Amino acid sequence: MIKPLIIANWKSNPDTLGAACRIAEKIEQIAAHNKNVQVVLAPPMLYLAPLVSLLRRTALGAQNLFWTSGAYTGEVSPTQLCHIGVKYSIVGHSERRAHLAESDEMVHKKLHAALAHGMTAILCVGEKERTQGEISERVEEQLQQALKGIKKNQLANMIVAYEPVWAISTTSGAAPDTPDNAFRMAIFLKKILVRRYDRKSAERVRIIYGGSVRATNIVSFLREGTMAGALVGGASLDISEFSKIVQRAANHSR
Ligand code: PGA
Repeated sequence: MIKPLIIANWKSNPDTLGAACRIAEKIEQIAAHNKNVQVVLAPPMLYLAPLVSLLRRTALGAQNLFWTSGAYTGEVSPTQLCHIGVKYSIVGHSERRAHLAESDEMVHKKLHAALAHGMTAILCVGEKERTQGEISERVEEQLQQALKGIKKNQLANMIVAYEPVWAISTTSGAAPDTPDNAFRMAIFLKKILVRRYDRKSAERVRIIYGGSVRATNIVSFLREGTMAGALVGGASLDISEFSKIVQRAANHSR
């Protein structure tokens, strides 16, 4: 069985490096006690380098990356991230799409760059509004646009995070998706991948869920193995909650 993947997305938190180190050390202990879960920590960019030496079992992920090096003020290149040992990168998070005008084209370039550098890319897709029964076309569009030019031999390093915006804990009125709908979406995304590539290649892509994941609901999303893990925002800064999420994922995968 492939290890479930639990990714902590700290967003722009916490405010100090000291606090980041304290939480990261605890996350490292959690990861060391639950070796059958792959824990990934995606802290703010400027904490990546100082956290490298604190983490062994926990992989480091960037919350974003740029598609190249050079004259791009304020950006961080894939080469720089790889050089310090960052193995994963989130690409196309809905907050970047919404607040930083990240377009499908930019997301595509970032996905391409991450994979070309041998990183594991966590591509986020998800609709803004909760739909009653119907699957939003936007989700397929986000996936198809991002995949332009991506070869099937690159898919093993790709994770798709289905993260409906309405389920993200900071969206007003947020509520987690139902496990049934998340499964339906995982199957929908897999089918797109099968159509675009082939079944064998599509199976290599892990689909994970994000949006108000808590200790109380993690197992329902992992049930039957349809979701390979979770992208955890708010709860990843609450160490007792995050610890329970990882433990429950570990118990589930035994
Ligand atoms: P949340 O955030 O777990 O706080 O809902 C998830 C995310 O935005 O990645």
